[in-house]
Order: sequence, then C-alpha cells, then structure tokens
Amino acid sequence: MSPLIAGNWKMNGLTHSLDELSELARLLTTGEAPRALVVVCPPATLLAAVAAQGASSGIIAGGQDCHANASGAHTGDISAGMLADAGAQYVIVGHSERRNDHAETSDTVRAKAEAAIGSGLKPIICVGETESQRDAGEAESVVAGQLAASIPDAAEQHEVIVAYEPVWAIGTGRTPTLDEISQMHNAIRARLADRFGERGETIRILYGGSLKPQNAREILGVDNVNGGLVGGASLLAKDFYTIISAV
Ligand code: PGA
Repeated sequence: MSPLIAGNWKMNGLTHSLDELSELARLLTTGEAPRALVVVCPPATLLAAVAAQGASSGIIAGGQDCHANASGAHTGDISAGMLADAGAQYVIVGHSERRNDHAETSDTVRAKAEAAIGSGLKPIICVGETESQRDAGEAESVVAGQLAASIPDAAEQHEVIVAYEPVWAIGTGRTPTLDEISQMHNAIRARLADRFGERGETIRILYGGSLKPQNAREILGVDNVNGGLVGGASLLAKDFYTIISAV
C-alpha cells in the first residue's frame, strides 16, 4: 500500500496561492520521486485550477466536503458529482470542523461518503476524540463508534481512506505520543479487519493533527500509519514537500 499525504487547505487560498502549488510541483518533479500519493484539497473555488495545474506533477485534487445528495435545493452546498466534474479524485468527509461547525453526525458523514463513492470519488473519512474524551479514557471507544457509523458498507468494494485526527491536536501544535498514535492506529486497523476482513487490512489509515516537517518522520514511521492529513503545514510548498519527503 503506497502511503498517501493529503493537504487540507481549509478556508485558505486565493488565486495567488496557486503559486505555492507551482512551487510544490517544481519540488516534486525536480527532487527524488515521492514515495507517497500526493493529494491537495483546496477550497472549492480553486479545485478545478488545482486539478488542472497539478496533473503534470502527479498532484491529485480533492474536495473538503460534499453534500449527501446528487443535486437539488441546497444553497451553498456542493455535490460529490460536482467535485468529480471539477477534477477531484478524493473528498474529505467528517472533518471535526464540519462535525462541530455544522453539527454533522456520523450518519451524515456516512451518507456523504456513500455519495462520494457513487460519484467515483475516494472519501477520506475523518474520526477523532476530543481532549475531554481522551482524558476520560474514552478515546478508543469514541473512535470505534465513529468508525462503525461513518464508514459505509460500500467500503467492502470501494476504496475509502480513514483519517485519525484527535480534535485536540488539530491546529494546536500538540500531538499524541508515538505510543498513543500506535495504539490508536492498531485499534482502528483491528476494527477495520473485523468488519471488512482482508480488505480492512488494505484501507489506509492517515494520521492528522499538527503534522509538521519536524515530527513527520517519526509519526509517519509508526506501524499502521499509512500517511497523513496535513492542515497548516500544507499551505507552504516547502513544508508540505518536507512532510511528503519524510515518507
Ligand atoms: P493541522 O490540521 O495540521 O493544522 O493541525 C489538520 C487537519 O485539520 O486536517
């Protein structure tokens, strides 16, 4: 399984940010060939440009969210088919910022993942505990519940990616210890194998939450960490490239 590094630009990026993408493309094509699949998830306004501009350097475009329905009266929303039409191959669903800001439940997330699969996209399904849940010793049970409800049965036949992102590590500069990451990723692998058998062994499990050039090598080296979902550090080509190169 080749590792996958996805950059999540969140609500950041204007036309001039495509300069960073050009710089990333330059780094990726002049240096040693990356060992990871490289996905960039810009805001929807830049998706088509990222897909077009990234293609020649192997950068794959992804969306940050999609609606569960294919079309209709949903002002401001974007369907999975629209993302695919704009050139996306992946879409993040269930990011904790969506779960919090938009009260998305795991049932909603599962419906979005199903819509993504239906449009030929690979959903990156996010799970992760809050700090108080971890302090209460509930991290593994919370994540297990999110996995069970957020991953559609269609994952049996279609590619999905899981991203473990402890909510308290996102944008904070704090990360779990390597032992904690290892324990959680092993627990997720066990759940996936229980539910999907051999196929569950092949589902990538990304780590996300303050993944930086300084900690990427050790975190990405943990067993059952099959790549990363990178927020802040994906905005600068140099930093994102360093993380990609750490694979
Ligand atoms: P961060 O964000 O790397 O800025 O912590 C990760 C994410 O939210 O995907």
